[in-house]
Formats: sequence, C-alpha cells, structure tokens
Amino acid sequence: MRLEDVRHIGVLGGGVMGGGIAQILAGLAGYKVTIRDLTQEILDETREELIERKWGVKRAVEKGKLSFDNGMRAIENTDFTLDLADLADCDLIIEAVPEKLELKQAVFEELDGVAKADCIFASNTSGFVIAELAEKVSDERKKNFIGMHFSNPVPVMRMLEVITTDESDPEVGEIAKAVGEAAGRAVSMVKDKAGTYGFILNRVFAAAAREARQIVEDGLATPEDVDKAMITGRNWPAAFFGSRGGIGKQW
Ligand SMILES: NC(=O)c1ccc[n+]([C@@H]2O[C@H](COP(=O)([O-])OP(=O)(O)OC[C@H]3O[C@@H](n4cnc5c(N)ncnc54)[C@H](O)[C@@H]3O)[C@@H](O)[C@H]2O)c1
Repeated sequence: MRLEDVRHIGVLGGGVMGGGIAQILAGLAGYKVTIRDLTQEILDETREELIERKWGVKRAVEKGKLSFDNGMRAIENTDFTLDLADLADCDLIIEAVPEKLELKQAVFEELDGVAKADCIFASNTSGFVIAELAEKVSDERKKNFIGMHFSNPVPVMRMLEVITTDESDPEVGEIAKAVGEAAGRAVSMVKDKAGTYGFILNRVFAAAAREARQIVEDGLATPEDVDKAMITGRNWPAAFFGSRGGIGKQW
C-alpha cells in the first residue's frame, strides 16, 4: 500500500469517535468513507450527529470553523452500511467499537476475512496493546496493523497518536501519519509496549491523575483546590475531579 493508493477508508463503529473520525477524513481530507455499525437506528443517529449536532458540520460552517465546501464534502463522501462486505475494497479501516479487548479482537478477526489483502487495519483503542488486538488476524496482516488514537471530540481536538508495533511495517505508520495530517491532525508517533495501557496522552494523564488522587488522599489539598491549580496553572480545562475549583466559567 502506498499513500496515493489510499482512497476509501472504512470506519467500524459510528459512535462518539467513529462519527467524528469519518467527518474529518471525508470533509477535511476528502477521502471516501464508509461507516459500518450494527443497526439502522445507530447509523441514522451517526448521520444526524455528523450534520446537525454540536460538533457536526452545519454548526462548524456557521461558526466559520469549517469551509462550506469541506462541510458538503464530509456529507457527500460518507456512506453508511450494516454490511461488513461494503468495506471489502477499503484501503484503510479504522476500528472504533467499544473498549473491550475480546470484542475488538473478534471484530478484527472477522474483518480479516473480508478486507483486501493489503488493507491497513487501525484501532482507535484508548490504550490496549496493539499487538494484542492483532492476535487473531493473519500473520500477513500484522505488518499492516497499527493504532490510530484520536481525541474526543474529534472535529475539535487535533491530536492523533499513530502507534506502531514490532511487526508493523514502518511505512504503514508513515501512511497513517500522512492520512492524519491530510485531515488536519497533529500526529505523534509512538511505539506499542506490552504490559501498558495507553500511549502518550492517556499514560501521562493517568500518571498526573494518580498524583492528584494521592494529594487528596494524603489530606494535603481538597479536590477543588487541585482542580483549581491545574486549570489556572496548566490550562487543563478538564480537571481531575470534575470541579472548576470555584473559579467559574470566565476562566
Ligand atoms: N469517547 C472517547 O472519549 C474516546 C476517546 C478516544 C478513544 N476512544 C476509544 O474509541 C473507541 C470507541 O469509543 P466510542 O466512545 O466511540 O464508543 P461508542 O460506544 O460511542 O461507539 C461504539 C460503536 O461501535 C458500535 N459497534 C459495536 N460492535 C460493532 C461491530 N462489530 N461492528 C461495527 N460497529 C460496532 C456500537 O454500536 C457503537 O455505535 C473505544 O475503543 C474507546 O476507548 C474513545
């Protein structure tokens, strides 16, 4: 697979993440995107989210965050399907089903029998070891198996982590990086590591959250004071304990 061969991208799961991933890949990067989910009701909801809801294209265009042409492209380039076979000619498939290891492994195993031989498989897992997600696909596929971890809400948060394993072809990581950049992402490359959960974003956040909890458990500060310090000192808008430390919205 070469970057210029990537034309059709499949997205498995049209939930919070899958819908947003499809939106930016179709709208900003211009790929043909097909979203697969399990019921027509969910797919209708995904379409509604993409067009009408808080992070959808209509509001983004109205607010001047997205051009009208890119907004139209996001709608026109996105197809919705219940049938996995509709992903058979995809060049890249991004999995965004719920964060359950066995479910993801089973989904990739099924996909392996449907997707074309050189299709790249990517998981948007928040933190599972990518090599473990690849356990049930063929050995041949493993070189095309990576992580692509987007951040929520995808149309707003520019982060993308591309995770490569010991078995991934480095060129596949570079293709994923270029695809992400075409969709306006700031891409960080990171290696997979057994025995961990999370890549850069979630590992660093988890470490900070552990310290925040420890400070409160030790009786050194209240949750509100921890949140206040992190919001005003580091500009972390989503603080650890969900309070705003009494500082109000103006900040
Ligand atoms: N929500 C976040 O903030 C966030 C951020 C980064 C990464 N993630 C990761 O993204 C992934 C998806 O999370 P989400 O929040 O979008 O979940 P979600 O529950 O909103 O959506 C998951 C979708 O997958 C569908 N699904 C289940 N099995 C399927 C199958 N076999 N084929 C196709 N679709 C299937 C469900 O019907 C649902 O619509 C998880 O791995 C999660 O850890 C989530």
